[in-house]
Amino acid sequence: MNNNIPILEARNLSKTLGSKTIVSNLCFKVYPGEIYGFLGPNGAGKTTTIRMLTSLIFPTMGDVYINAIKLKENREGALKNIGCIVENPELYKYLTAMENLKQFARLKGQTNEDYLYNLLVKVGLPNTADQKVGTFSLGMRQRLGLAQALIGNPKVLILDEPMNGLDPQGMKDIRDILISLAKEDNMAVFISSHLLHEMQMIADRVGIINNGKIIAEDQVSALLSDKTLSLKVDEPERTLALIVNSFNLNGTIKNGEIQLELRNGIEMADIIRLLASRNIDIQDIRMVDQELEDIFFRLVDNETSYLDKRVEGVR
Ligand SMILES: Nc1ncnc2c1ncn2[C@@H]1O[C@H](COP(=O)(O)OP(=O)(O)O)[C@@H](O)[C@H]1O
Ligand SMILES: [Mg+2]
Repeated sequence: MNNNIPILEARNLSKTLGSKTIVSNLCFKVYPGEIYGFLGPNGAGKTTTIRMLTSLIFPTMGDVYINAIKLKENREGALKNIGCIVENPELYKYLTAMENLKQFARLKGQTNEDYLYNLLVKVGLPNTADQKVGTFSLGMRQRLGLAQALIGNPKVLILDEPMNGLDPQGMKDIRDILISLAKEDNMAVFISSHLLHEMQMIADRVGIINNGKIIAEDQVSALLSDKTLSLKVDEPERTLALIVNSFNLNGTIKNGEIQLELRNGIEMADIIRLLASRNIDIQDIRMVDQELEDIFFRLVDNETSYLDKRVEGVR
């Protein structure tokens, strides 16, 4: 498979319900072997987008391409390339794990028991093949849902908040499986979440959605590599305004300290010179590590020109 050709693509995807625009002009591409994090707060439009990607609802405008097949023109041909969990996996609790898999496998024309058993191995459930799903923990059910989604060897997995409600170990299990599917089996994984930390640990790239629009898209490493300067002065609001006007930088005030995102070649020394020239005392100044969370809240606070930071896929 050519890793430079997107396996999943949204072009100007929009959804309007009545007079309300829920998703607006979304564009993104996901490549084989890549984990794409679709990150946004509750109500941002993640599930609506995923329902369009998986053909549960029709877009008002725009198109979805799966494996270069236009979903609108060849629904069946496009959908056979995806595996998905939207909302909770549909499982029969009075059937065993294997019986559950067989139910779904039949629909996909897969009945080979060894094949299904291997899927259970892949999701870490080999010893529970004969156990009734009613006795499963949420994490086990979610992993069985993943096995179900993998039936038929899809090229792309589409998962809507698969970590929701899981304990840390349950999250780690899912994370390890997804990373192995992407890196070892070259699968593309599109995963939505409102959990920033989780995305930071798993995604190669993230698209950040807020109010139905993608407000930033970048490799996680690039989003995190912007340098942040923390600055303590007597009058942070006025000083921040001065710096923002002088250097055209983005900044916020957190716990009484100015947090500045250094860009365009502007360095700490430039800030110090400016403040010295205005006789502003600096009580403390230092570079700080950024968390995705800081970036996220700053982006959501000021939906500015971050789209100029969009990058194409990893390879
Ligand atoms: N069927 C619907 N009718 C009206 N509004 C809806 C419908 N589905 C979703 N919405 C609204 O669209 C917005 C996005 O919802 P959703 O896609 O579920 O967001 P997320 O999954 O990011 O939490 C929310 O404001 C929600 O209330
Ligand atoms: Mg949702």
